Amino acid sequence: MQSSDNNLPELPAWLRLDGGMATLVLALEDSEPAVSYFGPRLPDELDCRQLVAAGRRQTPPNSLAHEPAIALSPSIARGFSGPPGFAIDHSGKAWAPDFRLTSIERTAQDSVALISRALGGDLELTHHLRLDRDTGVLEAWSRLSVLTSDGLRLHHLAAPVLPIPDRYTRLLGFSGRWSGEFQMSEHRIPVGAYVRENRRGRTSHDAFPGVVLLADGATEQQGYALAFHLGASGSHKLHVERFSDGRALIMMSDLLLPGEVMLDAGESYSSPTLYAAVSVTGLTGIAQSFHPFVRAQILPVTTHAKPRPVHYNTWEAVYFHHDETVLKGLASRAAELGVERFVLDDGWFGGRRHDRAGLGDWFVSDTVYPCGLKPLIDHVLASGMEFGLWVEPEMVNPDSDLYRAHPDWVLEAPGVPQRDMRHQWVLDLTQPAVSEYLFVRLDALLREHAIAYLKWDMNRDVSHPGGRDGRAVGRRQTDAVHALIDRLRIAHPAVEIESCASGGGRANFEVLKRTDRIWTSDSNDALDRLAIQRGFSLFFPPEVMGAHVGPRDCHITGRHISIETRAGVALFGHMGMEMDLRELTVPESGALARAVTLYKQHRGLLHSGRALRLDHRDWDERWGVIDQDGSQALFGYALTGTLPTTLPGRYRFAGLEATAGYRLSLVWHSPGIDTRFLDGLSGQAVPGGLLVEAGIELPVMRPQSILIFKLSRAD
Ligand code: DGJ
Repeated sequence: MQSSDNNLPELPAWLRLDGGMATLVLALEDSEPAVSYFGPRLPDELDCRQLVAAGRRQTPPNSLAHEPAIALSPSIARGFSGPPGFAIDHSGKAWAPDFRLTSIERTAQDSVALISRALGGDLELTHHLRLDRDTGVLEAWSRLSVLTSDGLRLHHLAAPVLPIPDRYTRLLGFSGRWSGEFQMSEHRIPVGAYVRENRRGRTSHDAFPGVVLLADGATEQQGYALAFHLGASGSHKLHVERFSDGRALIMMSDLLLPGEVMLDAGESYSSPTLYAAVSVTGLTGIAQSFHPFVRAQILPVTTHAKPRPVHYNTWEAVYFHHDETVLKGLASRAAELGVERFVLDDGWFGGRRHDRAGLGDWFVSDTVYPCGLKPLIDHVLASGMEFGLWVEPEMVNPDSDLYRAHPDWVLEAPGVPQRDMRHQWVLDLTQPAVSEYLFVRLDALLREHAIAYLKWDMNRDVSHPGGRDGRAVGRRQTDAVHALIDRLRIAHPAVEIESCASGGGRANFEVLKRTDRIWTSDSNDALDRLAIQRGFSLFFPPEVMGAHVGPRDCHITGRHISIETRAGVALFGHMGMEMDLRELTVPESGALARAVTLYKQHRGLLHSGRALRLDHRDWDERWGVIDQDGSQALFGYALTGTLPTTLPGRYRFAGLEATAGYRLSLVWHSPGIDTRFLDGLSGQAVPGGLLVEAGIELPVMRPQSILIFKLSRAD
């Protein structure tokens, strides 16, 4: 920090943070903080006054004499004509407060809090910014506090807003649906706005709160890219806009319902946290920033303690048809295949024999389990596996003892009938009695049973989040869910939790601060998964990506896919299996057991390495992971569609040292592939430069087949 002349002489004119490969410079002129630069690391000796001067704009014709900045919270008071960073009023007044920077606090070596005040000191707006030292990932959130008056209405408070440098011309947005999450779609950044609003009350399958901005020419491995993600488990909004004056911004916020936030004296409201990463190596650089950041800064510490165990999940094997003898048989088969954790999915409690009843009654069903869960758990433990259990705490079926006893425990909008979705309604966790009930039940289950893992599901949108006082509680409900998980974690620190919402409907960094993995999608179709994993893995490292080997004929798509392809795709995430194991033929069982062994041999590399993203064609997928010292790598190739040519062409590796020699082997492949295509290279040290620049010719392949290569540096 340095001081200079400024209308608040005690404050500096600019402020700089550095971390990883990134630099952030804030201009603090006119007592309104704004990002002057967020991009690749600048030289240490740079004079930031020059940077700020270089960014000074002339006044165009027919414009305000003093062009309003794209400030951290652009404001109506300053005449900003784009979207404001906050919207408030006090009985219809105080709608244009003019916040002025009053102080700066270094909250840690890598973080600052910029405090601004308005309305004679009654309102305080604080921007918190942290640039992670190791990865250069920016964390930023805004907080509005009311110091003296009552009854301020807050309509909107965005996380700190960033200008978009004009080198970024394209954006990768996220769309999707249930069983088809994290689909990427590319657009030119328009003049006007690209806006995604998610009002589902959960992160959603169709509007993941993330976006990547790309400079012209940027690819998977090359060029400038900037990525943004909002840690939001509820409704949210993404706004990218280019203005006629040539400037552009990105703003992300949660999406509040009318009247939801009223602040009295002493109360505050914080935006969700915005995360941003900078890359000069295309999408690979984005993943290589976010992955170590998530590992070191987001995931619960306990998650790092042990390798990610191979899962077996009962859902697609038995659905609601629980039978202790059948389940014990499946557990035994799973253990033989190398499974390390058996997860009992939906159907074990209350009247839950189908999806129309039982949610809320978190008591083991004595119809299905007359002696409780203990015999099954004992069998699982005796087979050498951990035991995990499915729960969906936020929900209730109207046909449940809980609802019959407490019909006033559900969220509802006054005068509006409940809107059905999967026959279930949402409990109002903002009522202390409701959260207490859920804590007591979950706590009891965890105390009474040897449960190492909870799959925490959430299978419907929160469409009418009205509390008992008639007001909307959207964000308060989300905070209450997080608080319940936090409380449970404190009581049971060794229990791992999965965030599931009909698949990947609640995937974000905020939920991942208190959970250990994400159920990526309900589609276990390996081809679907390749596209889903491509989007997901921009933000999340592979160890949190729940990836199961599904049934031979996928229950969602009906596609018939070989065990080699299903297993080869799943082993690049947190591997598991989810099928009726009785369907496996002897060769399929053998292949699955070998895939599990391969996963166990390489999970250390996969779950700590650097992601390598490869450019691909319409008919294939290519990806890789290399360990931190660059000595071992795994690369995958899958032919997903029909080739337009007789052969797939060349496979070019990435991330290798040009002059180092690598031994190349094929560690996994679909049946029927003539593996002699590598004969000319086997046993030799092949230079990285050859493998990256020239690549190797791929063999004759059928659609839906897969190859996994291993590279070991030969020194
Ligand atoms: C949705 C989940 O995504 C599935 O894996 C399964 O747990 C079902 N819910 C159970 O109802």
